[in-house]
Amino acid sequence: MIAAAAAGTWTLGDRTVNRLGFGAMRLTGTGGMGRGADRDPHQSAAVVRRAVELGVNHVDTAGFYFSASARANLVIRDALAPYPDDLTIVTKVGPGRDLVTGEWGDWARPDELRRHVEHNLETLGLERLHVVNYRSNGRDDVPAAVEALAALGDEGLLDHIGVSNVGLDELTTARRVADIVCVQNRHAPGYERSDADDVLAACREHGIAFVPFFTIAGRAREDSAAERYDVVREVADAHGVSPAQVRIAWTLALGDHVLAIPGTGDVAHLEQNVAAAAVRLTDDDLVRLGAVDPDGSAAVPSRPWVS
Ligand SMILES: NC(=O)c1ccc[n+]([C@@H]2O[C@H](COP(=O)([O-])OP(=O)(O)OC[C@H]3O[C@@H](n4cnc5c(N)ncnc54)[C@H](OP(=O)(O)O)[C@@H]3O)[C@@H](O)[C@H]2O)c1
Repeated sequence: MIAAAAAGTWTLGDRTVNRLGFGAMRLTGTGGMGRGADRDPHQSAAVVRRAVELGVNHVDTAGFYFSASARANLVIRDALAPYPDDLTIVTKVGPGRDLVTGEWGDWARPDELRRHVEHNLETLGLERLHVVNYRSNGRDDVPAAVEALAALGDEGLLDHIGVSNVGLDELTTARRVADIVCVQNRHAPGYERSDADDVLAACREHGIAFVPFFTIAGRAREDSAAERYDVVREVADAHGVSPAQVRIAWTLALGDHVLAIPGTGDVAHLEQNVAAAAVRLTDDDLVRLGAVDPDGSAAVPSRPWVS
């Protein structure tokens, strides 16, 4: 049986979620956010409904995930509202995308985050957002942005705060301002991790969920997820699973505090991704996968899941 619960649960603030979740960016187009081919919102809604049928109760989205054909938040709302009580929807704010035209502009200032939060409330049809990530992308305004989100939380617009695309310093400063329940950073076999492992370890130490993105796509931003690494294919063949499933299983093996949010607009891929919750890799597999370097060769073994 395919079930998201097979990888266990984690508590985000006061909300318990299955560690195998779903990322909504690809519901809007094959490349997400207007890149690649646009997707049919009805087909995308079927993907979201199937995810929830299979036990997914953690959905990652953003108001700025939209293409000419579909908006992730509206697809989720159309597919699932009224929402099941146990569903946690995590959204993110910060990137300066015009929410009508799609044009990219300046990052939102802290005092502009209210508009982004309100846009998410409206498009998702929620009275309070469950978790809002400030997607910083290396900016130095994390404390001010987190403070602004905390004030919106005090007003009752949101429950919990996370940060995204942050280094250890930004995480540390954010934690001085408010409780941080999750960190969403890029992390995948073959991705240059720089201080990603430090952030992963800090999250473990402080009971914060680490939620990596591009688990399957790796370094690619566009719509091709063709596997680039022999070692991933070899491990997949050894287990009789797909490379995407190996990537998800590797992610889940990074720690109990790690939540997977593979993204897809395809029901068959979704079913495969959820089934990965039950895939168990060996220690040897994990060492080999953790050592994939960006050139595609498995170099010096490291154990990135050990802090
Ligand atoms: N915080 C941030 O800055 C940030 C940035 C990017 C993404 N995110 C979040 O993280 C989520 C995950 O990232 P992502 O969706 O970009 O990348 P991903 O999950 O790593 O990979 C998605 C890509 O893999 C393909 N794919 C999915 N399942 C597959 C399978 N079983 N077999 C073969 N190919 C498969 C998808 O194509 P199909 O759609 O055709 O299946 C798509 O091309 C996003 O949906 C979004 O919610 C956050």
